[in-house]
Parts: sequence; C-alpha cells; structure tokens
Amino acid sequence: SEKAFVMIKPDGVERGLVGDILSRFEKKGLRLIKAELKRISKETAEEHYGHLKAKPFFGELVDYITSGPVFAMIVEGEAAVRNARSLIGPTNPAEAAPGTIRGDYGTGVERNVIHGSDSPENASQEIERFFN
Ligand code: GTP
Ligand code: MG
Repeated sequence: SEKAFVMIKPDGVERGLVGDILSRFEKKGLRLIKAELKRISKETAEEHYGHLKAKPFFGELVDYITSGPVFAMIVEGEAAVRNARSLIGPTNPAEAAPGTIRGDYGTGVERNVIHGSDSPENASQEIERFFN
C-alpha cells in the first residue's frame, strides 16, 4: 500500500480540529503510522513551498505556515495520496464541497486548514523533509 504526507496547518491546530480531521482519515481506512505536533522552520517552509516562490503571496504563505504548530502525519492505505486529496478537497475552500475538510472548515484560499501531498513521489520527498 501507499503512504501520503498530510499536515494540519496552524489554523486547523489552533481551532482544535486535529481530532475531527484525524478521525476522517481513519474512517476512510487510511491508517496513521506516524504523527508529530511541531513548529516548522522558515527554511523547511520555503523548501516545502518552493514551487510557489515566484507568487506574490509566497512571503505571507511562509509566515502563515510557521505561525504556530502544525500536526504533521503519515497515513498509509490503498491509493493513500488520491484518497487523502479527495478527503481534503480543492485548494480554495470556496470551491470545496461540504463534506470535504476544506469545504467544511477552510476560511480562505490561504487558510485552508490542511496540506496533502499531490503525488506518491512528492509524498516520499515530504516524508523525508518533515520526518527525515
Ligand atoms: P497544499 O496541499 O497546501 O499543497 O495545497 P494545494 O496543493 O491544494 O495548493 P498549492 O500547492 O497550489 O498551494 C499551496 C498553498 O498555498 C495552498 O494550500 C494555500 O495555503 C496557499 N495558496 C494557494 N493559492 C493561493 C493564493 O492565491 N493566495 C494565497 N494567499 N495563498 C494561496
Ligand atoms: Mg500542493
């Protein structure tokens, strides 16, 4: 089976959504194999969002993701990356259906509560980056 990297962002942790979100992954059959509540460094954040470096919101995004603890986790199961993305919903919560994590809880295109890796290759890289 496959592994996915998932990270509840500072807004999700701050608002007390960790338990509810974790429960959704468990109910979908994605097993939690590792988790850590931690603050991420500016360097790690800049690397994680390296593909968005040219965007005008890059600085704000790095400030947001380092503004408080995140809940980083590895989940495992069949098609874990695709299943996690479908539980999470599209980037912009305004376009995310109710029933998805971002559709239920996201408050803006930046403050969208959670990250999920977008391919198995990126999942391996992110697991390495956040859990080395
Ligand atoms: P992640 O799972 O967090 O990687 O989100 P994603 O794959 O759905 O989107 P993407 O990788 O393109 O963007 C990463 C993050 O940047 C998003 O989750 C948002 O938090 C933020 N972001 C994306 N687009 C915008 C934008 O237009 N404005 C702002 N302020 N933030 C954005
Ligand atoms: Mg992404």
